[in-house]
Amino acid sequence: MAIKFKENYAAPFLAEDDLKGIAPQVSAAHDILYKKSGLGNDFLGWVDLPVCYDKEEFGRIKKCAEKIISDTDVFIVIGIGGSYLGARAAIEFLKSPLYNNLKKDTPEIYFAGNSISGSALNDILNLCEGKRVSINVISKSGTTTEPAIAFRVFREYLEKRYGHEEAVKRIYCTTDRTRGTLKQLADEQGYESFVVPDDVGGRFSVLTAVGLLPIAVAGADIDALMSGAAKAREEYSVNDVYKNDCYRYAALRNIFYRKGKAIELLVSYEPRFAMMAEWFKQLYGESEGKDGKGLFPASVTFSTDLHSMGQYIQDGRRHLFETVVTIGDCGSDIVLKKEENDGDGLNFLAGKTMSFVNQKAFEGTILAHTDGGVPNLVIEVEKADEENLGRLIYFFEKACAISGYMLGVNPFNQPGVEDYKKNMFAMLGKPGFEDRKAALEARIQ
Ligand code: PA5
Repeated sequence: MAIKFKENYAAPFLAEDDLKGIAPQVSAAHDILYKKSGLGNDFLGWVDLPVCYDKEEFGRIKKCAEKIISDTDVFIVIGIGGSYLGARAAIEFLKSPLYNNLKKDTPEIYFAGNSISGSALNDILNLCEGKRVSINVISKSGTTTEPAIAFRVFREYLEKRYGHEEAVKRIYCTTDRTRGTLKQLADEQGYESFVVPDDVGGRFSVLTAVGLLPIAVAGADIDALMSGAAKAREEYSVNDVYKNDCYRYAALRNIFYRKGKAIELLVSYEPRFAMMAEWFKQLYGESEGKDGKGLFPASVTFSTDLHSMGQYIQDGRRHLFETVVTIGDCGSDIVLKKEENDGDGLNFLAGKTMSFVNQKAFEGTILAHTDGGVPNLVIEVEKADEENLGRLIYFFEKACAISGYMLGVNPFNQPGVEDYKKNMFAMLGKPGFEDRKAALEARIQ
C-alpha cells in the first residue's frame, strides 16, 4: 500500500468502544453514498471519476498540454476555490513550490483570478512581457466575479498583443457543458473548451479538466494520477471501518469532534505539501462547515510553524487534534558532511540525510504533542509522485463525503459561499440584484 494510515498515536485518547460505537454510522454513510440516497446526491460524479471519465476529452487535454508546452512560456490559470486550488496544489506537490523558478522545458504557471487585487493581477501581467502567453480560464458556474474580471483583463491583453485570431488559439476554457456566461463566450469566440461535469462540484473537481490541463502543462503524468485514484477507489470501497483506512480516518475525526476537538490541524513536514493543505481546507471547510456544525480545518508546515504555532499546539486550549501527512521520498535529499573544525557543533549529524533529521523532528514532535494532550493521526505517503497523489486526493475526497454524512450535513453544497457571491453582485450593482442591494445598503453603517 502506497498510503498508510496510522492511528497508534491517537490510541491514548480513545475509549475501547469508540470505534465500535461509531461503526454503524460509518456503514450508514457508505450505504447512502453508494445508493445515492443522501443529501447532495446529484454531486457524486467524483466517486467513479477515476475510471469513468470522458476519454476523448482526456486525450484532448494531453494534446492541448503538448501544444501549450511547445508554444507558451507563461501559462496563466484563471480560477478561484475549487477551480484553482487542486491544480496549484498538485503542481507544487509533484514539482516544487519553486516550480516557476526551476530550470525546465515546460511553461511557467501563474494563478490569477483568485483574489480581487488589481496589483496582484498587474504583477502577473508585467511578468508576461516578452514571453509567449496562453491562458486557461476555469469556472464551473461561469459567473464568478474574481475569475471573470481577470479573464476580461487577460483577454484584452492577448487580443492586443496577438490580434483576435491568434488570441483565440491561446485561450482555453474549462466550464459547464451548456450553461453560464463563460460557456456562451467560449462558444461565440470558438475557444477550445473543456467540461466540468454537472455531477462534480468545484472542490471535488481536481481530477477533471479543471485540474488535469494545468497539471499536464506542468509536465506531470496525468495517466499515473488517474491510475492512483482508480486504485484508491477500489481500495477504499469496502464497507468495513476496521478494514477501510479512509473510513477509519473519517470515523476518528468524528470521534475527536464529539470529544470537543473541533479543530483538525493538517500537518506536514514538507513545504511542497503546503498548497495541498490549502486544497484540503477548502474540501473539508466547504463540505462540512454548515448548519452550525463542522470541524474547523487548519494547517501548519513543520518544522517552520513549530517556531510560530508550536507553543499553542503544545500548551494552548485543548480543542484540536492533528493529522500528519509524511512523505517518504521527495525525489532528492542532502547528506550532511563532516567538517574538520566542528565550529557549528553539527558533526554529530555527519553522514545523515536531511530526511533523517526531518523524521526525527516528526518523531520528537508527535510524542511531545501527544504528551501535551493532542491526539495525532498519521497518513504516510510513500513518494511525492503522480500515482500517490491520485491515491491521496481520492482518500481525502472519500473520507470527506463519509465524514460529512456522519455529521448530518450535505457535503456537496456551499450555501455560505453562494451568499457572499450574491451579496457582492448586489453591492456592485449587477442587474437582477436590485432588491438585495437596497436591503444590504440599508444595513451598511
Ligand atoms: O467548491 C466550490 O464549489 C467553490 O469553491 C467553487 O469552486 C468556487 O466558488 C469557484 O466557482 P466557479 O468554478 O463556479 O467559478
